[in-house]
Amino acid sequence: MCGIVGYMGSQEASQVIMNGLKMLEYRGYDSAGICTMDLGDVEIRRSSGKLVNLERLLNEQPLHGTIGIGHTRWATHGKPSVANAHPHKGGAVVVVHNGIIENYLALKEELTSRGHTFLSETDSEVVSHLIDENLKTATSLEEAVRRALKDLQGAYALCILSQMDDKTLIAAKSGSPMVVGIKGDEYFVASDMPAIISNTREMVIMEDGEMAVFRNGGVKFSTLGGEEIIKTPRYIDWSPLMAEKNGYPNFMLKEIHEQPRSIKNVIAGRLHVDEGDVFFEGLELDDSALRAFERLCLVACGTSWHAALAGKYMIEEYCRIPVDVEIASEFRYRDPMVSKKTLVIPISQSGETADTLAALREAKSRGAHIVSICNVVDSSIARESDGVIYTHAGLEIGVASTKAFTTQLVALYMLAIRLGRANGIIDLGKGQEMIAALGRLPALVEKTLELDPQIEEVACEYLTCWDAIYLGRGISYPIALEGALKLKEISYIHADGYPAGEMKHGPIALIDREMPVFILAPNDKHLVKVRSNMEEVITRGGRVVAFCSEGDLETGKRAEFALQIPWGGEALSTVLFAVALQLLAYNFAILKGKDVDQPRNLAKSVTVE
Ligand code: F6R
Repeated sequence: MCGIVGYMGSQEASQVIMNGLKMLEYRGYDSAGICTMDLGDVEIRRSSGKLVNLERLLNEQPLHGTIGIGHTRWATHGKPSVANAHPHKGGAVVVVHNGIIENYLALKEELTSRGHTFLSETDSEVVSHLIDENLKTATSLEEAVRRALKDLQGAYALCILSQMDDKTLIAAKSGSPMVVGIKGDEYFVASDMPAIISNTREMVIMEDGEMAVFRNGGVKFSTLGGEEIIKTPRYIDWSPLMAEKNGYPNFMLKEIHEQPRSIKNVIAGRLHVDEGDVFFEGLELDDSALRAFERLCLVACGTSWHAALAGKYMIEEYCRIPVDVEIASEFRYRDPMVSKKTLVIPISQSGETADTLAALREAKSRGAHIVSICNVVDSSIARESDGVIYTHAGLEIGVASTKAFTTQLVALYMLAIRLGRANGIIDLGKGQEMIAALGRLPALVEKTLELDPQIEEVACEYLTCWDAIYLGRGISYPIALEGALKLKEISYIHADGYPAGEMKHGPIALIDREMPVFILAPNDKHLVKVRSNMEEVITRGGRVVAFCSEGDLETGKRAEFALQIPWGGEALSTVLFAVALQLLAYNFAILKGKDVDQPRNLAKSVTVE
């Protein structure tokens, strides 16, 4: 999400760091900052907006010193502003951070009671104060860092400096990426290889739970517990472009593979296991306020609308609250029936989609309470909402939405838990069971990604088709729609999604030997009916690919291909089926030689009506 660069050597650190940050700017950040250390003094420059603003500031007020850390921020907690830009300084300690500190509110409270003053709204600032607090009793910066890290929950990649020790730079990692570049006695640290690959190709990839201490022209790697580890640099022969994509051939595949992490992020810090409940920092509605809504209205476009449709199934099933799902571009032109008793939920990755924003304003003007589900922090939709649930998927560059979609599904599932706990339909046991299923999800996504070779085989088999049909029942129907949209937009093959039971009311006339029928057949309450729908297609000579649940060897027996998707429970299996369908569309498009990151005629954020 954010970019980190650190340097220790003989050059002006600010220059090396600025060059590194520039290599990460293609990711589009909202603020940036650098700190260097010179003769025991730490100095910081920060600015909001693009890097050019920071560069201008550095020209006016240069930074000197051969040790430094820098950061470009993509906001997660706290709006984009100078105060929220990194580096953050707490007492004598300066940090840049990538990731999410889940327990930052509790730590902040504790540190405030010990006299620390916080200047930002970020979760990251807490790390600098926590290390500073430990520095009071520790014998070294290294020890203070080790102690502080024990108290952190969540994910982090950190670079740390202290004015009490002007010869040391520390990097630590747990859950967010970090690499160390080595060139003689010069050391480069970065969240992403492109930031430092022009300086050196000798890199050490840090693993979770590791720390690197740079001092006196050397580096020592150790576990967070203090046990020394020997790490050998490896030569990275990627081109700078490959490095931007972390070795993936394009952003879409990179983002598909980022989903285990983005799902961990959307969950992070929000699950109250003991209470079987979910806490959303931006919801700002207590149980009685939630109970007062008579209905919900989810409004969105495209892929986000598909997430909304799946959300309807989840919320109505688990919370017994009526949910309407609206296409944003239709909503505002038909005198929509919303009132103070309606909770309106716009869903948007970018937070800038013009139709969704217009729908939000329309609903607001009719007195509805607005809680949006957004990925981009402080976007227009987020700013104009009464509350926001951020999906924390990280920056999505590929035009076809992937990780934003699956994190929307997870956010809606968590919202269903919150609403169901508030109105008592979900009891403690059920809430705990639903939360446990969430905890298992990232690993199941990893497992689904391993199906790629089999999915590629399917794409090869049907590569010459002009049309495809996706079928699903119940909550799999919106996933069928999403699968069809993914295929259309990146491979330009015409595709439609239908509720499987609708086939006999018309689309079945299309069945022939040319058109594959992709059938979603998870092991849920619809399975028997879906099997019958599959038979209807097969007996008319249709070519079926069955996406079944792991362990179900029966359903796909008569299909041309049967894929076994891990089972994540009825609602969360949507995420796993969606991942498989993303890979299917991706393989079709790549085999056809299409540009998956920038499909023709499409834009990432549709800011016109
Ligand atoms: C498809 C896709 C689009 C978006 C739609 C809404 O892959 O990305 O259909 O989902 O344009 O965009 P957001 O979610 O930014 O409002």
